[in-house]
Amino acid sequence: MEDVLRYIESHQEKFLAELQELLRIPSISADPAHREDVLRCSRFLADHLRGIGLSVEVFQTPGNPILFASTPMIPAAPTVLFYGHYDVQPVDPLDLWQSPPFAADIRNGNIYARGASDDKGPVFAHMKGVEAFLRTRGTLPLNFRFFIEGEEEVGSAHLDPFIAAHRELLRADVVVISDTTQFAPGVPAVTYGLRGLAYLEVSLQGPSHDLHSGSFGGTVPNPAGILVDVLSRFKDERGAIRIPGFYDKVLPIASWEREMYDSLPFHAEEYRALTGVRKLRTEEGFTPLECRWARPTLDINGLYGGYAGPGAKTIIPARAGAKVSMRLVPDQDPEEIAALFTRYVLSLCPQDVSVEIKNLHGGKPVLMDVNSPWMKAARTAISKGFGKAPVLTREGGSIPVVATFKEVLQLDSLMLGFGRPDDGAHSPNEKLCLDDFYRGILTSAHLIDELGRTTAES
Ligand code: BES
Ligand code: ZN
Repeated sequence: MEDVLRYIESHQEKFLAELQELLRIPSISADPAHREDVLRCSRFLADHLRGIGLSVEVFQTPGNPILFASTPMIPAAPTVLFYGHYDVQPVDPLDLWQSPPFAADIRNGNIYARGASDDKGPVFAHMKGVEAFLRTRGTLPLNFRFFIEGEEEVGSAHLDPFIAAHRELLRADVVVISDTTQFAPGVPAVTYGLRGLAYLEVSLQGPSHDLHSGSFGGTVPNPAGILVDVLSRFKDERGAIRIPGFYDKVLPIASWEREMYDSLPFHAEEYRALTGVRKLRTEEGFTPLECRWARPTLDINGLYGGYAGPGAKTIIPARAGAKVSMRLVPDQDPEEIAALFTRYVLSLCPQDVSVEIKNLHGGKPVLMDVNSPWMKAARTAISKGFGKAPVLTREGGSIPVVATFKEVLQLDSLMLGFGRPDDGAHSPNEKLCLDDFYRGILTSAHLIDELGRTTAES
């Protein structure tokens, strides 16, 4: 590995300049105004991968392009399918950023940009790992395929159909993903579980238009008031979710997991300070880590209805609504949970308002086998790349395609996080620590080396 590692060591500056170029493309998938930037980002990566020596196919979808790139074919060697996303979250609130979100400013050993940590930086680190092999040896000990999409942050609508239609193209031995994080700064992790998601919007209509609350008040149903009544019945006084059947399929947390979580360097007070809340609020009988990783949630993500501008406006609103997300754990199913949620909300709503419930998106929770030979290779690669053995973690966030890889392609995913929990993914001032970027590149190279010597039986 000397040659490969030396290449990485001596090209750090070049890698960083290239990463800056990538981060300067505002590939915000949620905003139609950035559609051209999203396309430009897919072209940038396609050109970059070709430049490194991969053969690249760009698949158009009804949404954003999917990139597929392969290293030169090595028969009888393992095949790794690397998944990541080149799209990023919106940047608002813009005034909280210390440097513009697409300036890719470097300060105090960090690079600041939307997408630096989630997920362009980690994706790019793997590209550099592959480049190091190709430039020094002209070949890899395995077949490495990049499978990179541009709609992850908006629910990946076109990804599952693409996977179902391209099983042969995507044939592999294992999936690699770097879209999770280290456990804490200096505590690298391999992640073996993710929560799933059911995300719905409830909207209620009362009057056909906003009414004068003096002239009409006292005679008509107010959808904002009714919405609040409905929402107030989602949880009991102990915080348990009251939707009938919600917990039926929740797997208990294994005792080895509880013990392992208890042994992790988790400091509730530091964690509390990071969130800015006065006091953590957790489910009775579970630790904060258990609640984040292995217990389901229900959260109101947003509320609308009536007048919320400056001063007073005396109306009875025509409409009011809420966006509600539920993070799910194995073996809950997002479609089943959406149906239970819908039935419960309908049962709570009085007849005098009309109710609309939309299922916006979802994803299944996953758990991986922590003892597979692939997992062993991942742990070794992190140990070598970060200079420290990783801990095993679950994550509270969701990467819905991981379940699709398992169900449709029968593939396990190795989740190696390069960024940190406090990188500010989805928040202002998102960053990636430059050391983590370089350690990520080293990890990628070691992973290629390790997986090249791994088979399903080894
Ligand atoms: N990188 C995250 C997933 C993630 C979040 C992993 C937190 C580990 C910890 C990903 O880009 C993401 O934000 N996913 C969405 C999925 C949703 C849009 C279906 C999420 O979790 O909200
Ligand atoms: Zn991500």
